Amino acid sequence: MLDCFAPRPSPETVPIVPIVPVGAADLKKRLDAEATRTVAWLESTGFKANPGQLALLPGATGRLARVFVGAEPEDALWSLADLPSRLPAGRYSLDAKLDRRQATRAALGWALGSYAFTRYRKRERKAIDLVWPREADRDLVLHTAEAVYLVRDLVNTPAGDLGPAELAAAAKALARKHRATCSVIVGDALVKQNYPMIHAVGKGSAQAPRLIDIAWGPAKGPRVTLVGKGVCFDSGGLDLKPSSGMKLMKKDMGGAAHALGLAAMIMAARLPVRLRVLIPAVENMVSGNSFRPLDVLRTRKGLTVEIGNTDAEGRLILADALAEADRDKPDLLIDFATLTGAARVALGPDLPAMFTDQDDLAADLQRHAAAEADPIWRLPLWRPYRPGLDSKVADLNNIADSSFAGAIYAALFLKEFVSDGTPWAHFDLYAWNARSRPGRPEGGEAMALRGLFALIKERFGK
Ligand code: BES
Ligand code: MN
Ligand code: ZN
Repeated sequence: MLDCFAPRPSPETVPIVPIVPVGAADLKKRLDAEATRTVAWLESTGFKANPGQLALLPGATGRLARVFVGAEPEDALWSLADLPSRLPAGRYSLDAKLDRRQATRAALGWALGSYAFTRYRKRERKAIDLVWPREADRDLVLHTAEAVYLVRDLVNTPAGDLGPAELAAAAKALARKHRATCSVIVGDALVKQNYPMIHAVGKGSAQAPRLIDIAWGPAKGPRVTLVGKGVCFDSGGLDLKPSSGMKLMKKDMGGAAHALGLAAMIMAARLPVRLRVLIPAVENMVSGNSFRPLDVLRTRKGLTVEIGNTDAEGRLILADALAEADRDKPDLLIDFATLTGAARVALGPDLPAMFTDQDDLAADLQRHAAAEADPIWRLPLWRPYRPGLDSKVADLNNIADSSFAGAIYAALFLKEFVSDGTPWAHFDLYAWNARSRPGRPEGGEAMALRGLFALIKERFGK
């Protein structure tokens, strides 16, 4: 799948061009060790080793012989990540002393920067690859990059080609690849099997709603359950979104994509856990059969919910999936969702909001997120706000009586469907790069997965 690394053994016919990463502070020392003509070239072309600054050096025959790039050592992950798009075609290697962690990061950045969404516009791929840095953990790089590519591809695919049926097909394909089981409950069967909310939210679409259920790993292993919001398109339902707010809503299945991506990493690494992935997959559409404002719905758990706004649909389908997940008493329960605009107002596009009542889990999540350069930010499940979700006719309203703290209210709503003892964390994320940065092209993006994988490996790994 990934073709951004040199095949082994490398055919000698392709010359290998060394890339020399230099931090601005180390430039002077580095130049002392270089030939005068190299120093003259770098000085006269203004190379200061600023982050991302490139210098292409010709050899005696005039062909490209070496590349200098400004790169701060502490930013191993992203500092080389835009080279696959900026360098000419060819085969490259890294000319730097890298420990295992740095080598793994540099290779991962290279891989993430080699991504392109090619479904609708085939381009001749630039023939550029990197010789594996010797110390790199190749399996970790490949498994991580494949998971991120999967998330990006799923999120980037428009709803016309990725409805609930196609999302289920993608889940089945992943399950098949790793010999996991995958069952799907479709349409009216959701009512019979007591998933009333998933059915209610999805019934206005021409494509039937469904619940995807993947299981993998030893039945007696510690239980890790991942839940992902799979709203393949969110028009807002009858409380329709304005056009500006609707435009990006093909990505409202980003939570589902994250659950599948993390599952792919866990299965590829064969972590000794009992994995379950639950994805409610629906389209929130407008039709004569849509659910309505002020309808009262019964949930899987038995609580009734008054619909204050049909655009607060994600929490409804997640409620039924979380109630089911909670029945297994998982050792770790994680949900991912593009749940609220309010989380983005609070933290912006790049910083997923993380909610949990378990302080030890929060501390572990934050520690791994920092170590993996995969940022998250904790927001509180602020119990005093819970009365804001009260309804006059039902157990709960799906929206709050206040326009403040929308991300917290959504998280508090979800909390009603998870037992107090369950180690549960909820991620409200954007799943999208609003602008391009090295290794992170504009469009669908995986967030928080590297940190989460590291946590799961630490808690439950061999
Ligand atoms: N999918 C949206 C949330 C969203 C919007 C995420 C924009 C990222 C960017 C969700 O279903 C939604 O519409 N939430 C509403 C809730 C409101 C009606 C209480 C929101 O955030 O405005
Ligand atoms: Mn919505
Ligand atoms: Zn939504």
